[in-house]
Amino acid sequence: MIEVHELTKDFDSFRAVDHINLSIPAGSVLALLGPNGAGKTTSVRMMTSILAPTSGRASIAGFDVVQQPEQVRAHVGVLTEQHGLYERMKALDYLDFFGRVYHLSAEQRRQRASSLMERFGLTFALDKRLGEYSKGMKQKLALVRAMLHDPPVLLLDEPTSAMDPQSARQVREAIVELQHDERTFLITTHNLTEAQSLADRIAIIRHGRIIANGSFAELARQFVGLPLMELHINGHVNGLTRDLSDMVEVQDSGHDWLRFRVADPRATNPALLRRVAGMGIEVVTLAPVSQTLEDIYLQVVKEDEAQEARHNGSHS
Ligand SMILES: Nc1ncnc2c1ncn2[C@@H]1O[C@H](COP(=O)(O)OP(=O)(O)OP(=O)(O)O)[C@@H](O)[C@H]1O
Ligand SMILES: [Mg+2]
Repeated sequence: MIEVHELTKDFDSFRAVDHINLSIPAGSVLALLGPNGAGKTTSVRMMTSILAPTSGRASIAGFDVVQQPEQVRAHVGVLTEQHGLYERMKALDYLDFFGRVYHLSAEQRRQRASSLMERFGLTFALDKRLGEYSKGMKQKLALVRAMLHDPPVLLLDEPTSAMDPQSARQVREAIVELQHDERTFLITTHNLTEAQSLADRIAIIRHGRIIANGSFAELARQFVGLPLMELHINGHVNGLTRDLSDMVEVQDSGHDWLRFRVADPRATNPALLRRVAGMGIEVVTLAPVSQTLEDIYLQVVKEDEAQEARHNGSHS
């Protein structure tokens, strides 16, 4: 549904986006993550025909972002960083204006605007001027605007930034619901818990280049290694580390617990439990320690920094 091929953007001599490739199937959510200034917003703007690429291609629902900007705009809902426009306009008129841009009938405009405003708890503010909106209210209104024409593809640049926790959850729930309706999403966010809960795939961009791209499980395998297990026993783990050293490599331990990594938990864990039981030790729990997207993200960025330092070192 979203195809990006070698997309590049130069601002004068500065390369903000550097030959990125992405493929986002219909009905899925891709989270584009990365440090400030990495090129996320620039990528989103190119993918929605707002900004002309320097080179490369992108298409949305089969329409080329350079050749067919009108069709792209009809098929995409976009939320980008806010620019303080339309401060004197009332919210209702603002949405009506965009409804006309999207060729919605008067009835559709009224119906879509009121149901979306209600969904995000903004019914009370339909008559307020945008200049009187709080930051989070503006963000919600921008989201309503992006969803107004019920587009099949939504590109949302930091959709929940500035939102209170309850509102952020409403937005996540809306995204999940729309995904079930086969809508396709690209979202950028600095909230890694949010990315982990929403995204089917995760791409990480740094200095304009994609440095990781895959499902959570794929990235976890690639960047943080084997699954981590935690064993709790009744009593002290003294000596147990040594007694298990031929089976697993213990990474960390406390007085009644230890953590180890295993290549194949199905093979290793039962054998390990038999041995521990044979030693007369009571097992309280043996459970996987869940890896978070934050662990993965920090590792990906760290490895890329290290690679960059080696590269720079070899050239100085
Ligand atoms: N119009 C512009 N002219 C010149 N440089 C720009 C322009 N827009 C963006 N840049 C530069 O391109 C780089 C990428 O910016 P971009 O806004 O895409 O980052 P981002 O990943 O969205 O960051 P953030 O997480 O802070 O939103 C930055 O170095 C920025 O300074
Ligand atoms: Mg940005």
